[in-house]
Amino acid sequence: MDWMHETIKQLPKGAFLMVKGNPMTIGWAQFGIIWGKKTFTVYVRESRYTHLLLADAGTFTVSVPEYGTMSEALAFCGTRSGRDVDKMRALSAGLFANRFGGQDGFAGCRYHIECRILFRQDLNEDRIEDKTLVDRYYADGDTHTMYVGEILGVTEEPE
Ligand SMILES: Cc1cc2nc3c(=O)[nH]c(=O)nc-3n(C[C@H](O)[C@H](O)[C@H](O)COP(=O)(O)O)c2cc1C
Repeated sequence: MDWMHETIKQLPKGAFLMVKGNPMTIGWAQFGIIWGKKTFTVYVRESRYTHLLLADAGTFTVSVPEYGTMSEALAFCGTRSGRDVDKMRALSAGLFANRFGGQDGFAGCRYHIECRILFRQDLNEDRIEDKTLVDRYYADGDTHTMYVGEILGVTEEPE
């Protein structure tokens, strides 16, 4: 379970959400159990290229750097869009081949969490009870979609 602890610790600094070879930095995510399955849930705003990629993807992979490392790549993948630039190429980064049928990960990270999407749902503003959150996060209408992924497997990348 070290990977869970390490992931929660690293998430505020960022992890890479990998879909079809495009890395997007994420900071929001949850572990949990639903329908008797171990799950990892991620949140992606509609404006992201990743949102488009997820529209016809059945899986995603979250690649988690060693704590406090890869900050430049995280900043790049958290500010640049795959619509405009091939981020992996720009970073001279490689893919870590998936082992459980999920998406390929971002090579050089500590953990790769492969997930199969079980459920997706837009976070509709009218369902958010604390309206200060709507003002704070959705004044521009760019809402998040949540993706609940069944954890297919976690790989610790050899050093
Ligand atoms: C530390 C950090 C955490 C982020 N977390 C999220 C997140 O959880 N969900 C989200 O939609 N965008 C998040 N972003 C913003 C996206 O990473 C950013 O808009 C990115 O350029 C989108 O890439 P894409 O267009 O290739 O999908 C975060 C950015 C940073 C720097």
